[in-house]
Amino acid sequence: MASSQLIIFSSSFLYLFFTTSLYPTATSAAATYSSYPTATSAAATNGGGGSWTFLQKSIGISAMHMQLLPNDRVIIFDRTDFGTSNISLPDGKCREDPHERVLKRDCTAHSVEYDVVLNTIRPLMVLTDVWCSSGALTPDGSLVQTGGFNDGERVVRVFDKSCGKCDWKEIPSGLVNRRWYATNHVLPDGRQIVIGGRRQFNYEFYPKTTSSDKAYSLAFLVQTNDPVIENNLYPFVFLNTDGNFFIFANNRAILFDYSRNQVLKTFPEIPGGEPRNYPSTGSGVLLPMRVVQGKVAVVEVLICGGAPKGAFVNANNGKFDAALKSCGRIKISDPEPKWVMENMPSGRVMGDMVLLPNGEVLIINGGSSGTAGWELGRNPVFNPVIYRPNNAINSRFVVQKPSTIPRMYHSTAILVRDGRVLIGGSNPHTYYNFTNVLFPTELSLEAFSPSYLDPGSSKIRPKIISPVTQTKIQYGKQIVVRFTVQNQVVLNRISVIMVAPSFNTHSFSMNQRLLVLDGGNTRSVGKLTYEVNATTPPSGHIAPPGYYMLFVVHQDIPSEGIWVVI
Ligand SMILES: *[C@@H]1O[C@H](CO)[C@@H](O)[C@H](O)[C@H]1NC(C)=O
Ligand SMILES: *[C@@H]1O[C@H](CO)[C@@H](O)[C@H](O)[C@H]1NC(C)=O
Ligand SMILES: *[C@@H]1O[C@H](CO)[C@@H](O)[C@H](O)[C@H]1NC(C)=O
Repeated sequence: MASSQLIIFSSSFLYLFFTTSLYPTATSAAATYSSYPTATSAAATNGGGGSWTFLQKSIGISAMHMQLLPNDRVIIFDRTDFGTSNISLPDGKCREDPHERVLKRDCTAHSVEYDVVLNTIRPLMVLTDVWCSSGALTPDGSLVQTGGFNDGERVVRVFDKSCGKCDWKEIPSGLVNRRWYATNHVLPDGRQIVIGGRRQFNYEFYPKTTSSDKAYSLAFLVQTNDPVIENNLYPFVFLNTDGNFFIFANNRAILFDYSRNQVLKTFPEIPGGEPRNYPSTGSGVLLPMRVVQGKVAVVEVLICGGAPKGAFVNANNGKFDAALKSCGRIKISDPEPKWVMENMPSGRVMGDMVLLPNGEVLIINGGSSGTAGWELGRNPVFNPVIYRPNNAINSRFVVQKPSTIPRMYHSTAILVRDGRVLIGGSNPHTYYNFTNVLFPTELSLEAFSPSYLDPGSSKIRPKIISPVTQTKIQYGKQIVVRFTVQNQVVLNRISVIMVAPSFNTHSFSMNQRLLVLDGGNTRSVGKLTYEVNATTPPSGHIAPPGYYMLFVVHQDIPSEGIWVVI
């Protein structure tokens, strides 16, 4: 343990609400378009809060990385080099690996498939080390995971969603360079870009299009690399609606044209200049984007929390600095973008930011002092907070009900189709240590249900009747979404939204994206049954190809989602 710790340490260093009142003007063409929900909206006045459900005492491994597949199963994995997990490999298999650093023969699993609907676990077999890796879904809904550590650092692994009992397939040397702490994003053409990683100041694509398709240098990663502490790992990467990438590393960002290897714009440093990426791990999201007549007028990024400069060195010397309270929000679509700062109710490092189908942002997990990395976080933050992007500044945060389980380094959070958020992991040690440590390794899985799932909302919750789940849609076409609402109510603020299923690890959700579709009037087509037309996103720049969860949202209460594939 001492030696691996040493290695780690020494090397580190929507809303277009197409509103219509059905009564008395159901047929009125002059529907009023309300813009964003405000503090007076239904969700804001019902007290917030949310609730917690304990799903599994042990899924066998620590949920360090999670990805929801379009079959409602979540692929979860930790790492192969820290001893035996709490779940055996399938069919009595064992993994023999002479390159392994801890167990050369390991009969336990380090990856599982979690069935969201049945709440069951199936062990999977990874052959090489997937620790601190990255991934994204292909347009057909399979998971492509890239890199890791040791014998896994250049491996690409594919998990095909389409067969019931599939396991990982590995492509040795699928990557040109080793990728450890890199970030992936789906491209408008469906391939993925893999950016950075430890001592990798470059990016590459997967799959490659030609044999000359190698790695391309990215000086920004050199410029943002603190030589003592690499404060730019797991960069926050978002596809802007012009097809270029917004890349945030350390304390600043660029707009980057990956096809020409050109920096198009340098954004101002985030005020205060504090680092936000691993190991000063904050989090970031692309805020919900409204598509209006084929365009997104406003594209905004929100980055919250992290640990101040020097916190990593201090934590290694037993001093745990208070985590950052501040969030920075920037309109990247502005000609002269500026950060607007705002404080969370409390400081948070290693928090996860999850876009909820009602357009709010859930900030969950993490601690209020120290940093990411082994044994370096302190004071778990048990209360999630909700951020309401459309409220006025200083009235955006609402503190939610606390969990009881610390979710420190290597914890995760992802949205699932029924609107809950799965919470797992916390493994701040090099091994599965359940005793004699401050924060025992967590094998449990919980769900946080935002208050929109409260039974009190069932009267107004929409239920999608059609299209059916797994429907294929095309770019820039009208779709008719039919839904019911349980009680006879005056429909108000109906929107149709799409959310991409993201790959979550180290407090960042790769490919997280929420689109509010352009929509028309809601019309009554039967008893408690309604239809709304919505226009699908115009292009892969706005919605990279692949699976999305589609929801109808009524007065901030989302339906259960359905899967659509574009
Ligand atoms: C998992 O943990 C439980 C409870 O400690 C134990 O009974 C079980 O044998 C463990 N399973 C494996 C495969 O390690
Ligand atoms: C953690 O587990 C490893 C492997 O079982 C063991 O060697 C180490 O002493 C444990 N650490 C603590 C603090 O208990
Ligand atoms: C809704 O979309 C359908 C399918 O494209 C189209 O036939 C219909 O005219 C649209 N209705 C309205 C009110 O736009």
